Amino acid sequence: MHAIVIEDKQLRWTEVPEPEPGDNEVIVDVTAAAVNRADLLQREGHYPPPPGAPDYPGLECSGVISALGPGVEGHHVGERVCALLAGGGYAERVAVPAGQLLPVPAGLSLVEAAALPEVACTVWSNVVSHDRLRAGETFLVHGGGSGIGTFAVQLGKALGATVLVTARAAKHERLRALGADVTIDYQEQDFVRAVRDATGGRGADVVLDIIGAKYLARNIEALAPGGRISVIGFQGGARAELDLGALMAKRGTVSSTSLRARPVPEKSRIVAGVREQVWPLVAAGLVKPIIHTTFPLAEAAQAQRLMESSDHLGKILLLR
Ligand SMILES: NC(=O)c1ccc[n+]([C@@H]2O[C@H](COP(=O)([O-])OP(=O)(O)OC[C@H]3O[C@@H](n4cnc5c(N)ncnc54)[C@H](OP(=O)(O)O)[C@@H]3O)[C@@H](O)[C@H]2O)c1
Repeated sequence: MHAIVIEDKQLRWTEVPEPEPGDNEVIVDVTAAAVNRADLLQREGHYPPPPGAPDYPGLECSGVISALGPGVEGHHVGERVCALLAGGGYAERVAVPAGQLLPVPAGLSLVEAAALPEVACTVWSNVVSHDRLRAGETFLVHGGGSGIGTFAVQLGKALGATVLVTARAAKHERLRALGADVTIDYQEQDFVRAVRDATGGRGADVVLDIIGAKYLARNIEALAPGGRISVIGFQGGARAELDLGALMAKRGTVSSTSLRARPVPEKSRIVAGVREQVWPLVAAGLVKPIIHTTFPLAEAAQAQRLMESSDHLGKILLLR
């Protein structure tokens, strides 16, 4: 089969060995894969795949099951699925633990389904399962125009939260159309002041942060009493000083997780939660895949260049 391999920080479409399904794994014949910011880090050598994962990039895909490994129950060859991957989505076929498979949500095409597993599992596990975002609370999403952000805005609205986003001004109109109540231009505005203004001085109950060190102190300033901050990205650095006094005064929580490094049973529990709680919202049309554009899989390098520019809104897909 063919896959995208990384050689000297470049992506190359080349022939590679066929994947073999291990115990409780299936082979998925890939229809579409999605580009994630982490794939760019992997290309640069900063984000190696966890042990046992394929070397090729690609954290999610959709496609059709073409083979079953030993012990797989409840799935069949020919089934249309999408999947959360530890790697290997930029390929014609990939081995996937059965617990990381999801059905194609009702009303979506097989291609569209590739845009959801990584963002749905990341946002749900942090914002719903861990931070317990509730109806009536205020939810601040940094990087509202990202793949993660466009999903988080819609999920926050579907759960009944008031949603505030930071993004470049050019993306604001489309983010309001997705449900954002307040859009903050982080290049021109102080987001702490904007959050306080929008909440009568109270602050945000839940913050989903992709910037990291650069925003830690200001996220605590922007937090409501009892607020929760989930840091899932370090685009603004990983090392920061934490003012525990400021956090204590808010009775706040800061947590940080990585989805990719979690063991298969943990990922499978997250996938099951997403299927139960998020897939009905997708089927109801309350949460949609936001697809900026598509590229042929063999042209993944162009797709990554677009992501580097940050001119996209939502997801960039790679098609077989
Ligand atoms: N921990 C995990 O398990 C996990 C899983 C998935 C993703 N992530 C992380 O989540 C982040 C988003 O991933 P993605 O694949 O959705 O990336 P993406 O689509 O490439 O989005 C990145 C976004 O960052 C925004 N941005 C840059 N500087 C900003 C700032 N100072 N304030 C606010 N926004 C800013 C850009 O939007 P503008 O055009 O508005 O600047 C851009 O849209 C990445 O950092 C990724 O590593 C973490």
